[in-house]
Amino acid sequence: MYRFLRFPLAALLFVFALPACDSAVDAPPEEDGAGNTLRALAQAHEVEIGAAAATGLPTSDARYGDVLGREFGLLAAENAMKFGPLQPTQGNFSFREADALVDFAEAHDMRVRGHALVWHNQNPSWLTNGNRTREQMMDILRTHITTVVTRYADQIDAWDVVNEAVNDDGSLRETIWSETIGPEYIELAFRWAHEADPDARLFYNDYGAEGTGRKSDAVYALAQNLLQEGVPIHGVGLQMHVSTDWAPRPSDVAANMARLGDLGLEVQITEMDVRMPLPPTDDKELMQAGVYADMLDVCLDAWNCTAFVLWGFTDRHSWVPSTFNGQGAALIFDEDYVPKYAYTALQQVLERAD
Ligand code: XIL
Repeated sequence: MYRFLRFPLAALLFVFALPACDSAVDAPPEEDGAGNTLRALAQAHEVEIGAAAATGLPTSDARYGDVLGREFGLLAAENAMKFGPLQPTQGNFSFREADALVDFAEAHDMRVRGHALVWHNQNPSWLTNGNRTREQMMDILRTHITTVVTRYADQIDAWDVVNEAVNDDGSLRETIWSETIGPEYIELAFRWAHEADPDARLFYNDYGAEGTGRKSDAVYALAQNLLQEGVPIHGVGLQMHVSTDWAPRPSDVAANMARLGDLGLEVQITEMDVRMPLPPTDDKELMQAGVYADMLDVCLDAWNCTAFVLWGFTDRHSWVPSTFNGQGAALIFDEDYVPKYAYTALQQVLERAD
């Protein structure tokens, strides 16, 4: 059970007395681009601060685009780079939405994190409804990975190659890929991605494997086996979809990052949000701020943690309410783009960390 230990409540309450918390977010950024935005503060550290961007919104919604470009130095596509959106019919790739996000990132001097090449969800119906041989499925997977990774080789230097391949009990998830190709689809995916862009850092990404436990052990073992087989895997993504009622203990996340680091692997927090039972209250938002702060603190302390990415940034656009019944308010800006306690807490961690 998560305990509110490492981030002092008193410090947060102090911050809350400052006008900064209720100041309008659309205040102009400082002209030199410096100041106390998250991305500016992160420059003192070797960790990039990122957010997932919803398809279309950075360019269609000015407030959304302003905050995204101002606060974050790294952009992930919340949906636009998944298999279904990218290859809606076989052999016909649709890069428009993904390109728009990459263009937005370039225009705002942000880096881009690729998510995700191989997953069991958000696959196109032509793929899920087909009845194909192992060779055909290998061919489809290879073509997809090669086409996408090659296209973005100049813009994307880190990819989630395989997403969520492990069950909560540590066994391998049965997916369209494992059932047709066999468990070796995982190593094949990494090898093909590496062939397409030898410079890209390639991640295995999952949820529920942030701290310690069966699933985390299984992900560790998977990564270790891949390395032993000479498979080009460079890191493990820890999604970190957690809540005010439950989050892994920061010390367990630190221990997990350390053991992955001992394998020579990078880690990134890739999809953080901290949901709460609705409606939000001050107490819950303070608790939430503590969880965000603790996890950033752990990441900054770990030599191998290179990015801290949120799954969205405003409660106006979040997958949480429609996915977790009765829960929401999981991000660091509220529905009106006003920074919440969690935002200020992240600023403080970045300001204070060595
Ligand atoms: C979610 C998106 O946020 C939703 O908009 C979409 O409907 C479903 O997928 N783990 C992942 C992400 O790796 O890709 C998921 O994103 C959230 C869970």
